[in-house]
Amino acid sequence: MTEQSSSRCVAITGGAGGIGQAIAAHLERLGRRVYVLDREGAQTRTGVFVPCDVLDRDSVDAAVETVYQDDPGPIDLICAAGIVEDDVAAEDLPEDLVHRVMGVNFHGTFSACQAFGRRLLDHGTGSIVLISSMSGNLVVNYPQRQSIYNSSKAAVTALAKSLAVEWGPRGVRVNALSPGYVDTPLNSLKAHMHEGWRAGTVLGRFASTQEIADAAEFLLSDRASYCTGTELVVDGGYSLR
Ligand SMILES: NC(=O)c1ccc[n+]([C@@H]2O[C@H](COP(=O)([O-])OP(=O)(O)OC[C@H]3O[C@@H](n4cnc5c(N)ncnc54)[C@H](O)[C@@H]3O)[C@@H](O)[C@H]2O)c1
Repeated sequence: MTEQSSSRCVAITGGAGGIGQAIAAHLERLGRRVYVLDREGAQTRTGVFVPCDVLDRDSVDAAVETVYQDDPGPIDLICAAGIVEDDVAAEDLPEDLVHRVMGVNFHGTFSACQAFGRRLLDHGTGSIVLISSMSGNLVVNYPQRQSIYNSSKAAVTALAKSLAVEWGPRGVRVNALSPGYVDTPLNSLKAHMHEGWRAGTVLGRFASTQEIADAAEFLLSDRASYCTGTELVVDGGYSLR
């Protein structure tokens, strides 16, 4: 397997968000060129912004073209684009919301993996990190109801394992990173629940975005060269209770 350079480029879907920007800034500090793929956030300071709606396959393919026109690659990938339904009972979920949450979190992640993965397979080397969640396979969050988000993240973790098995022999590692609670815009509408979430966390607090960025950078890097199909849980012990 070809050794990957720690200075090579990386594309981050959802790169304009709370976790995405922290990862982008961290990787830039380490000397990597970062492409921020997002449907909004053109004014973000960190990374080279590339407009991309992961719900639209043409948009994903266009973003890959844009990035590879700028750099010959191989270009690693972090998938952080994600949305959550806002505390809706499963029996009341409108069909379009079900499709949107599954579409961004799962299908959008698959689209980005397939589009960037094909290029990495051509190069015979690469590293992909999928930002999943403890909500996938480890906990059902409380008290908010988010059945589709949880299911979508279980699918994302399963996708990381499946791609790892298919692509590992061809030099491409794929891992999942499952955070617990992080204080980002994703959670801003549920501020009244934050105290309970902190109380349920063994370490008694949210993760900083930097703590998630550190873990993502590890999985992406050569230091994790024997990790593939791994789910790295960074949840302050929340899932232990
Ligand atoms: N914040 C948490 O507590 C937490 C916990 C576990 C996992 N996560 C996961 O981390 C990832 C990042 O979340 P965050 O907390 O930074 O949230 P965030 O809302 O700050 O960022 C999400 C980003 O995704 C982008 N996005 C949404 N739909 C998109 C689309 N169709 N195409 C392209 N980009 C799109 C948004 O514009 C935003 O910039 C998500 O996958 C989320 O599920 C977050």
